[in-house]
Amino acid sequence: MAYYWFKAFHLIGVVVWFAGLFYLVRLFVYHAEAKLEPEPAQSILKKQYELMEKRLYGIITTPGMIVTVACAIGLISTEPGIMKAGWLHIKLTMVAILIGYHFFCQRIMNQLAKDECNWTGQQFRALNEAPTVLLVIIVLLAVFKNSLPLDITTWVIFALVVAMAASIQLYAKKRRQDKEKLAQSQELASTGAE
Ligand code: HEM
Repeated sequence: MAYYWFKAFHLIGVVVWFAGLFYLVRLFVYHAEAKLEPEPAQSILKKQYELMEKRLYGIITTPGMIVTVACAIGLISTEPGIMKAGWLHIKLTMVAILIGYHFFCQRIMNQLAKDECNWTGQQFRALNEAPTVLLVIIVLLAVFKNSLPLDITTWVIFALVVAMAASIQLYAKKRRQDKEKLAQSQELASTGAE
């Protein structure tokens, strides 16, 4: 029974952790783009995003990671034999990368707070695709385990996920370009009117 409790809270932890990671980097996008706003809007927005990022990281994202890892330790201690499974070793490697990403985000959050980060909103949008790829690989490993098929179906699904992530990036880029064009034409129209 303990195993099922650990598994249930392991999955709850995963959902909370990923919600936090995805939203955190989305806030980085807004934070980076706030630098393009005129004052006093820029300072007000930056302060607000800084506060939101700190709260999200401390109250949602990090506790999500702790619950996931603590329950994973619980799962392994109730079924130690699982440690011999090959799929778990690959999964642990992916999770190590994910934990590295988590702390990398913390570093960026601190740099943004000190105004020492030069990343653009577009770069943060691209960064936000990294956990998606890890999520897909880790869940596939956890579900299929050693029988994860590496046939055409898996590769097609993987290609679809990558294509979806790329099209989201392209759509965001197009929207930003359209917005810039509109702002330029409005500026031209207003200088023409003067
Ligand atoms: C410290 C890192 C982790 C360890 C040691 C770990 C270990 C485990 C173990 C032992 C199970 C039970 C497998 C079973 O009963 O079949 C499990 C289940 C699961 N884990 Fe993890 N896990 C870790 C992190 C993660 C992360 C980060 C994710 C998601 C991205 C994840 C997703 C899942 C899923 C979806 C299941 C349910 C699989 C099923 O019941 O079919 N795990 N994990």
